[in-house]
Amino acid sequence: MPAVVKIEELHKTYDSGEVPVHAVRGVSLEIQQKEFLALMGASGSGKSTLMNMLGCLDRPTRGRYLLDGVDVSLLDKNELADIRNQKLGFVFQGFNLLARTTAVENVELPCLYGKQRLSSKKMRERALHCLDIVGLSNRADHMPNQLSGGQQQRVAIARALVNEPQLLLADEPTGNLDSRTSIEVMGVFQKLNDQGITIVMVTHELDVARYCKRNLILRDGVVVRDELTSDRSIAEVELGKLRQAETAAKLTTTA
Ligand SMILES: Nc1ncnc2c1ncn2[C@@H]1O[C@H](COP(=O)(O)OP(=O)(O)OP(=O)(O)O)[C@@H](O)[C@H]1O
Ligand SMILES: [Mg+2]
Repeated sequence: MPAVVKIEELHKTYDSGEVPVHAVRGVSLEIQQKEFLALMGASGSGKSTLMNMLGCLDRPTRGRYLLDGVDVSLLDKNELADIRNQKLGFVFQGFNLLARTTAVENVELPCLYGKQRLSSKKMRERALHCLDIVGLSNRADHMPNQLSGGQQQRVAIARALVNEPQLLLADEPTGNLDSRTSIEVMGVFQKLNDQGITIVMVTHELDVARYCKRNLILRDGVVVRDELTSDRSIAEVELGKLRQAETAAKLTTTA
């Protein structure tokens, strides 16, 4: 089985300003199926630039990118769009849900661009199944503004899953969430990863990266560290500890 991601000496230079910016400088990387990778590094280190290339949203200036064994470095815009719809799922910091559209309709949306032509009944079934995976079957008919931040992000994760992607890419998915909700969302990602989905996630927070299996750190467009997560956090366990602490606090205030 080929690596989900294999990049060789990838470079990206932005030429828009007066001085070219060499944002990614020769990154080589393999990501196998079922990996769960946190991409870290200071602001400006090239995380989003690298993610955009992994997500076929932007093309490298130089280097090769094999996605699931297919060389995507040379594809044109339309071909890249097809690959995105077929093989990739995206989750963003700001959820990016359509406002006047129910949760289930938001999840259905990528089906319209998927490779299979599905009947509306089949689309609805799939979307409801994905909402079930993220634990939101009972909110299918809610509008985004009737949902909490964590619930909105879970809808966005369900939407990313609806075309059964090979690779899930998330750019700061917990950036707008409080710490408890962040753990809950990391729990959803851990569950998906346990079921076999490969995940790459950009995060600034070390606490969040500890829920991933592998941590990669960029500095000035170069990989400076790449290691397995030591002492990995498990969301279920951390949420259990939180609940215990809350119960203990309640007992002290009522005693
Ligand atoms: N479209 C662009 N045109 C010109 N320069 C860019 C563009 N996008 C990013 N850059 C530059 O490339 C470098 C890497 O930016 P990038 O957005 O990848 O960083 P990042 O690690 O995602 O940072 P942050 O943590 O702040 O999101 C920065 O110096 C940035 O100014
Ligand atoms: Mg960024």
